[in-house]
Amino acid sequence: MIGAKKRPLTSRKFQSSPERMHRGEYLVHAVAKCMGCHSKYEEKAEHQKGEPPVLLSKEGAGAVLFESADAGVRIVGPNLTSDPETGLGKWSDDAIARAIREGIADDGHALFPLMPYEHFRIMSDEDLASVVVFLRSLPPVRNELPPAKIPFLFARLTLGVPQPVTEPVPEPDRLTPATQGAYLAKLGTCTDCHTPRNSRFQPIPELEMAGGTPMGWGDGAATANLTPDASGIVYYDEAQFIEAIRTGYVGARTLNSAMPWWEFRNLTDDDLKAVFAWLRTLKPRHHKVDNTEPPTLCKLCGKKHGFGDRN
Ligand code: HEC
Ligand code: HEC
Repeated sequence: MIGAKKRPLTSRKFQSSPERMHRGEYLVHAVAKCMGCHSKYEEKAEHQKGEPPVLLSKEGAGAVLFESADAGVRIVGPNLTSDPETGLGKWSDDAIARAIREGIADDGHALFPLMPYEHFRIMSDEDLASVVVFLRSLPPVRNELPPAKIPFLFARLTLGVPQPVTEPVPEPDRLTPATQGAYLAKLGTCTDCHTPRNSRFQPIPELEMAGGTPMGWGDGAATANLTPDASGIVYYDEAQFIEAIRTGYVGARTLNSAMPWWEFRNLTDDDLKAVFAWLRTLKPRHHKVDNTEPPTLCKLCGKKHGFGDRN
């Protein structure tokens, strides 16, 4: 078996500054929602609609995200605090940076791509430095987690995912709100949840951002069609979008917390406007998804979701 692609670690250090602390905290909390996977929350099934889930651990202390003894799978969001034994305390700045953008752990093994390093590749060098500076400031929390268990086939496929970043990554294109929004949406991984996948786990290009994927928790809400189609959210205006993300309500309808609105709500008005401008550049895709209806099989995406039988 050939190992994953990786570059050697360097001795670079990221100088802390108030600007970097501030930007890093914003990226971790509002944009890339790192803590959602790296902290323990109440069981997702207990989530109240329209309410954020309750944090049960110290922030960043890690959590078992998924476990199935039958399938021999355990996915763990590791402890990101500065604890030397159970966290990142002994990792160099560059080791943390390499894990985030290139998917390689300190010991050289490939990270399972639920950790969205494929998306984080585009994170600018300055933003990356800010994230590392902020993580370094997290108070150490000793939290021993059980080891991850990734079945052989997936572990093998994972080896092909990491790609070294060897060129400088410049600041994102902020020429228009839509290009700025594209950067934020990439770091926020909107497409991971909102673009349905086929049976080989590949995103279906004709249904880009057209939703329909049932989430395995809460009341099983499927992701929404966010394209500017009649079956999507063409009826939204900017103000309604901002209100939905800030409050978890679309009019009287509540949004399931499987949609991380409770993390994105910390985005600034300007950044939310930018994400909305980006959503408006998407190609309209016809795909009815309605979580207030019982799930039925959809021939377009192959999943069961409300109004699936109307597609
Ligand atoms: C969708 C869930 C998810 C999100 C969002 C996420 N991570 Fe992760 N992260 C993981 C998982 C799962 C792993 C472990 C992968 C494995 O076991 O191979 C991981 C691993 C890591 C590691 C390696 C730690 C170790 O001990 O191996 C670092 C560092 C890290 N993540 C930082 C971040 C940062 C910083 C962000 C936000 C910019 C972030 N993660 C966002 C799920 C996530
Ligand atoms: C972890 C998965 C996940 C991610 C990441 C995610 N979403 Fe969602 N989103 C959902 C789910 C599930 C729903 C449906 C919630 C419901 O109907 O209760 C949803 C619904 C929405 C809605 C409400 C649409 C409606 O029904 O009126 C908007 C708006 C939205 N998402 C925007 C975004 C944007 C923008 C991003 C990226 C910045 C994003 N989402 C990232 C899972 C996700």
